[in-house]
Amino acid sequence: KKQDMTLEVSEKGEYEHFMLKEIHEQPGLIRNLTQYYFAGEGKEALEKVATYTPERIYLSACGTAAYAGLVVRDFLEGINRIPAVVELASEFRYKNPILKKGDVGIFVSQSGETADTLAAQSICKKAGIKTMSIVNVDGSTLYRDCDDNLLIRAGVEIGVASTKAFTQQALTGRLMSAALAGDLKDEGKKVKLTGKFALLAERIDLLLLQSDAIKSVAESIYNKKGFFYTGRGAYFPIALEGALKLKEIAYVHAEGYAAGELKHGPIALIDEEMVNIALVGPELFEKTVSNVHEIKARKGIIVGIGPRGNEELMSLSDYYIPLDFEGLEELSPLYVNVVNQLLAYYMAKFKGTDIDKPRNLAKSVTVE
Ligand code: AGP
Repeated sequence: KKQDMTLEVSEKGEYEHFMLKEIHEQPGLIRNLTQYYFAGEGKEALEKVATYTPERIYLSACGTAAYAGLVVRDFLEGINRIPAVVELASEFRYKNPILKKGDVGIFVSQSGETADTLAAQSICKKAGIKTMSIVNVDGSTLYRDCDDNLLIRAGVEIGVASTKAFTQQALTGRLMSAALAGDLKDEGKKVKLTGKFALLAERIDLLLLQSDAIKSVAESIYNKKGFFYTGRGAYFPIALEGALKLKEIAYVHAEGYAAGELKHGPIALIDEEMVNIALVGPELFEKTVSNVHEIKARKGIIVGIGPRGNEELMSLSDYYIPLDFEGLEELSPLYVNVVNQLLAYYMAKFKGTDIDKPRNLAKSVTVE
């Protein structure tokens, strides 16, 4: 027992929790991913995917992996213009899905052992469509069951709250989208995408250096009644993921909403004890800001996460976390997501919960 504890301490290194360590691993992992797929061992697997000609894609997964699936869906639809849907594996497996020749099933998972995700894969396999995984654990059941696999190369993830796996799943999806677009044959495009990944890693590095600012926001809000994460477009999946992270480790009620949906119901909940974590990236900026105005008018507490130096959003916000979006383009949701990871981490720390092993949760859900 004593020995085990020593091992745990040394593995965490300078970090108090695995979750924090795993958050900090992200820039390095992002930099390695393009190298692995463009010039390393992953080359062959990605080239195989480049030969796919899907008419429609079903992405299926659970929890955070399903939210990463939403980010991947946006890449596949936005960049490749391939119709793609995300189905929660627990629903998909019982809905008698309409699967046709030409469809491809993609299963996103950290562990590769999630019971519902395995069942969803098995349904697709039985229907005779091609199945592929975006998975962390090499040799896992999902890995073995699928026709092809793209490893996310996140290393071992110990924190029950998934952080680095989400980022790597989404980015592996971005590489898949590049492969399907024929970019692997174009050196210039590969160099450009490698540069984008490197820029994302660099921005996350800088953000991590400013963790104290996020910690102080967390300290001011962690005791509030409830949390609404709002975003539009590419930031909507990030709102869902941010809320899930907070629920899991801080044990507070949090929901993610598409900002435009607020006035269709949830805005009734807004009062001076409710916090709106407003994710306002460059995409649909004005529309999202106008939703923040609506919440402010109902006395909600606003934590703005948006472009550095934006006066309007800064003055609307009770707390403002400025970000540098320039050049990140479609990868910017993954940058914003790290703010949410840190916010959840510090809120949980102020609450004093068991961050790496939150109550009622298991790292991998291998039973239904
Ligand atoms: C994430 O923080 C969760 N603990 C959980 O939602 C997880 O992502 C889900 O259970 C799926 O797990 P998997 O990636 O191992 O399939």
